[in-house]
Amino acid sequence: MAFPSTRMRRLRASASLRGLVRETDLRAGGLILPLFVVESDSEKGEIAAMPGVERLTVGEAVAEARSAAELGIAAVMLFGVPAEKDEQGSSAWDDEGAVQLATAAIKRELGELLVVTDVCLCEYTTHGHCGVVREDGGVDNDASLELLARTAVSHARAGADIVAPSDMMDGRVGTIRAELDADGFAEVPILAYSAKFASAFYGPFREAAGSAPAFGDRRSYQMDPANGREAVREALLDVQEGADMVMVKPALAYGDLIRAVKEATGMPVSAYNVSGEYAMVKAAAAAGYIDERATVLEILTSLRRAGADTIITYHAKDAARWLAEEI
Ligand code: PBG
Repeated sequence: MAFPSTRMRRLRASASLRGLVRETDLRAGGLILPLFVVESDSEKGEIAAMPGVERLTVGEAVAEARSAAELGIAAVMLFGVPAEKDEQGSSAWDDEGAVQLATAAIKRELGELLVVTDVCLCEYTTHGHCGVVREDGGVDNDASLELLARTAVSHARAGADIVAPSDMMDGRVGTIRAELDADGFAEVPILAYSAKFASAFYGPFREAAGSAPAFGDRRSYQMDPANGREAVREALLDVQEGADMVMVKPALAYGDLIRAVKEATGMPVSAYNVSGEYAMVKAAAAAGYIDERATVLEILTSLRRAGADTIITYHAKDAARWLAEEI
């Protein structure tokens, strides 16, 4: 039956009807707020390309986590800005590092809020790559695994609820799982950055975390944005290695892969609405070109519709506030 007996507009006539047949919902409880935590107070402060986001001291991170929890946000995701960097990135697994101290402090004060930690070396290495750099300038996959696992264990020891490796080395999920299990952390889940692309959308993050590579780029380990089937293979491999949740990153230009990874794995899927995506919205809103609230809620809803169960987003607190107002 077609027009005139079928009229799609019938169910769009009022807010109540639209609400009744809405297919996708957005909840604060599915959002994860990333936080940048500094080791030394001199590193704290605003991030030019990310208005509203700051590098925080441990104490400030606890306060920010508290306000996220009060808004019903499920989790914070911690990134560290160390005082010292070296070739190997050794402050990544320092039990007194920024992420470790912030994790312990947040868990102590706000038991219910989940703490997810980003496991990577790029913020901690002088060269800014996500693994060990060989003499010829290449990133040594297998030599990096032990360091990543050590970092994950140190996060778990500090009380992390979930560890999230973002380095894109092959085999890191399996290595991290084995080390966590061996150290008594068999119950700590792994959220794998499974399909992480070599993306221009990470620009503002690298300013925030001071993690831009000193030479070269990340294309020998992060994925080629042209590849979709490969994203599914990456996710399936991470599941085989023991990932509990998988991620697609960035989010906005990758909705097809959120869907494909969801269908292929059946796992809880996370979408990372990254720094450059945030920066674009903030810049356009500040210029008066778009309505920030409507744009953010539309973007986050679209990621849920694509198949994301959880969304990592710098908009989390604003979105949670707006969602609470709508009820
Ligand atoms: C670390 C890491 C990055 C992001 C998350 N973890 C940067 C990168 O890979 O260069 C990007 C997050 C964002 O842009 O919001 N490897």
